[in-house]
Amino acid sequence: MDSIIAIDGPAGSGKSTVARLVAKKLSFTYVDTGAMYRALTLKAIREGINLQDENELANLAKRTALDVTNDKNGNIKVLLDNEDVAGFIRTPELTAKVHYLAGVGRVRKKMVKSQRKIGQRGRCVFEGRDITTVVFPESKYKFYIDASLKERTNRRYKELIETGEINPEDKTLDEIETDIRVRDSKDKTRDIAPLRRAEDAIYIDTTDMAIEEVINEVCSYIK
Ligand code: CDP
Repeated sequence: MDSIIAIDGPAGSGKSTVARLVAKKLSFTYVDTGAMYRALTLKAIREGINLQDENELANLAKRTALDVTNDKNGNIKVLLDNEDVAGFIRTPELTAKVHYLAGVGRVRKKMVKSQRKIGQRGRCVFEGRDITTVVFPESKYKFYIDASLKERTNRRYKELIETGEINPEDKTLDEIETDIRVRDSKDKTRDIAPLRRAEDAIYIDTTDMAIEEVINEVCSYIK
């Protein structure tokens, strides 16, 4: 477990950016587990599956191969049945539907299994909601990355505009804040593997920190 870095935190906390850049700095593989839940959601949408039918969702998870790798430039590949879907899984419409799959125990069980298998390759930075608590609780390096709701809203807005996922006229800051608040609440209150701060995870409040500072702080713990 010495070569697994585990990071959890809420939406917009900057944990993805931090995880990606820490992985790059250490030549580790960056594994975005949210992207795996998103990829499965994409398949469910493509197949027109009833998102409220837990049996269908469990069956979908069972018959789907998910993997995460990085290309030689450190860019993430999210392989859904061997198709790289990294470019299709960040729309607000899809984001709002991920909770249906993330709330089903049998789906999570399959995800955890795939994630541990990826972890066996070693030298990985994993980020998500249950990495420090469920997937790799024994990992030597555990972090909880947080920021205020206001700061997380601003970051998410900027990100959505920069990546072209929304146009400035599509959504107001207030709407983004509501999206994040709703998702936080679903992630923190679900019955199975809710987002929580593991007691032995290092807590970093990044509200007033630059990305570089967060990366340096995380790396300062890695021996
Ligand atoms: O990047 P962002 O924080 O917006 O979200 P994400 O990490 O891509 O995760 C999307 C959703 O997947 C979360 O809101 C969770 O509901 C779910 N998720 C999860 O349940 N467990 C994980 N390990 C990662 C994500």
